[in-house]
Amino acid sequence: MYPLVVLALISLVCVSFTSCSHDHAKAGENKSKINVEHEARIERGRYLITITGCNDCHTAGYMQQGLAIPESEWLTGVGLGFKGPWGTSYPKNLRKSIARMTEKEWIEYARSANGAPPMPWVVLQKMKDSDLRDIYAFVSSLGAKGDDVPAMLPPGQIPQTPYIVFEPVFPSSK
Ligand code: HEC
Repeated sequence: MYPLVVLALISLVCVSFTSCSHDHAKAGENKSKINVEHEARIERGRYLITITGCNDCHTAGYMQQGLAIPESEWLTGVGLGFKGPWGTSYPKNLRKSIARMTEKEWIEYARSANGAPPMPWVVLQKMKDSDLRDIYAFVSSLGAKGDDVPAMLPPGQIPQTPYIVFEPVFPSSK
């Protein structure tokens, strides 16, 4: 009787131990799979941001210096206004904008986002969910940095910051 109980106990321990370690291994596998997927999302987000031109407006100096601007400075917003018939708009600090939103909120926001020029709003509205998720992963991985840009000004108000004037000029017909 006694050895039988011991045997039963041992086998019980063995079974639970092996299933435990199996679960652990599986959890580890899932975790590294999630990490690999997350890294791939970040990499694709980096690619999308690079090829869609967001840095040209949202990163100081990027239009002139391109990739010489370190990634740690990307998308921190620019306090140089774009003044046009819409008023004066400032390319927002996307690092902070995205840090304020969950991934779900970001996707919902992008679908309906529509503000002032020269932001190419349609680019954002028409991105696939997977692209928006990749961009979210990349920008989040950089972390929030920098200050908020000045608030947009209504038409006719003179900005107290440097600004670029968007104004069609017609050659005078002689
Ligand atoms: C030609 C300049 C320009 C380019 C290129 C540009 N943006 Fe913008 N973006 C702006 C300006 C200016 C604003 C502010 C508009 C406003 O105040 O209504 C803005 C605002 C935004 C906002 C709103 C943020 C908030 O907190 O409200 C998001 C999001 C955004 N841009 C994302 C992007 C992404 C992503 C790209 C690249 C695909 C991009 N922008 C490319 C100029 C630009």
